[in-house]
Amino acid sequence: MRTDGPRGAAAREARERGTAARLELARPGRYFGTAVAAGHLGEADYAATLDREFNSATPENEMKWDATEPSRGTFTFSAADRVVDHARAQGMDVRGHTLVWHSQLPSWVGALGAADLRAAMNDHIDQVMGRYKGQIHSWDVVNEAFQDGGSGARRSSPFQDKLGDGYIEEAFRTARAADPAAKLCYNDYNTDGVNAKSTAVYAMVKDFKARGVPIDCVGFQGHFNSNSPVPADLRANLQRFADLGVDVQITELDIEGSGTAQADAYARVVDACLAVDRCTGITVWGVTDKYSWRSGGTPLLFDGNYDAKPAYDAVLAALGGDGGGGEPGEGTATCTATYTRTADWNSGYNGQITVTAGSEPISSWAATVTFAAPQQVQATWNATPSWSGNVMTARPSWNGTLAAGASTGFGFTVSKNGSDAAPVVGGCTAS
Ligand code: XIL
Repeated sequence: MRTDGPRGAAAREARERGTAARLELARPGRYFGTAVAAGHLGEADYAATLDREFNSATPENEMKWDATEPSRGTFTFSAADRVVDHARAQGMDVRGHTLVWHSQLPSWVGALGAADLRAAMNDHIDQVMGRYKGQIHSWDVVNEAFQDGGSGARRSSPFQDKLGDGYIEEAFRTARAADPAAKLCYNDYNTDGVNAKSTAVYAMVKDFKARGVPIDCVGFQGHFNSNSPVPADLRANLQRFADLGVDVQITELDIEGSGTAQADAYARVVDACLAVDRCTGITVWGVTDKYSWRSGGTPLLFDGNYDAKPAYDAVLAALGGDGGGGEPGEGTATCTATYTRTADWNSGYNGQITVTAGSEPISSWAATVTFAAPQQVQATWNATPSWSGNVMTARPSWNGTLAAGASTGFGFTVSKNGSDAAPVVGGCTAS
């Protein structure tokens, strides 16, 4: 999925100390990127931090509709070009963000009738993707098309209101033709965990895959704060999308807070992505707290002086760098959990989770399992459950000791209550 930009030895050497290289080490071929604002590229510390730490760039605002087509048929690419040129000169990949979105949309678009709007949408995709054809590894074709909250409905927008649900697949089909080399993503927020909104997106992606609508990836924005913390089932959610046959990416990560709490939250997100084979990259939403769209929440990896925060160290550690372990022989306890249905009847089923220790012996483990909403767990055995909503965390009832590579299992009986959906296995953590 990487595009081949010029990859200067000096730039590569500099990045060997940073997040990008660590991610490459942990998972070759994956990227660690940031949002980039053209207006800050002239600031030496900004550019130096960007170039040293990241190997993918997303223009923060420069490719949005209001920036690229402020009036109909008049395209302005100078700011986007600055970001793309800088990134490619450094050998970075570029994420395209974003083509069809209700926000940062010039008012002329909303004033069009349906036929004109359809033509304008397709022309916009053609022109903007055409400009950067072959230079973008992933495009956010459609952004935030679902309503926030529990309705699972589409969000009202000129596109939705005038063209109906079909505008999304039309945008993806147009995008495939405009740049066949780019991965085409649907991108949204508050879809990071298993919830009504993410399940609505999941249903759309499943339908697209079944009908051959071109979609390659789903972006999870990852804007977190105390009201919207990193969900415990982030990994499970990423995995269920990956299981549909799409890549998943964390596209706009920022986590408000400071110190250890913020650092731990960042590590959890990195761990979740690393645990999912099809999680192909992580983008943080800016280089430094001082230019963050949520600067009051100091949500990024570098402070206003470009000094690395505890969150930065935690990301490096989670990527297998300094201090965090992950190397065999350092005594890092890991485990994996897999699910099988062992019995099935009209109104219920039995499931079994097999927990397997990684390359080191472990003394205890915890596995999370998310059940589909109307289902009820009637019984569990060989593990002690604790619950948060419909997410069960199972821990050993007695002794959690496992030799390296050894397995144990626990089971449960579930009442279907009308839903035959398989439970989703989230993380397995070991100590
Ligand atoms: C934000 C930018 O960071 C701000 O500079 C701008 O004023 C508003 O948009 N979801 C997205 C991003 O998809 O494009 C948004 O970026 C943040 C929320």
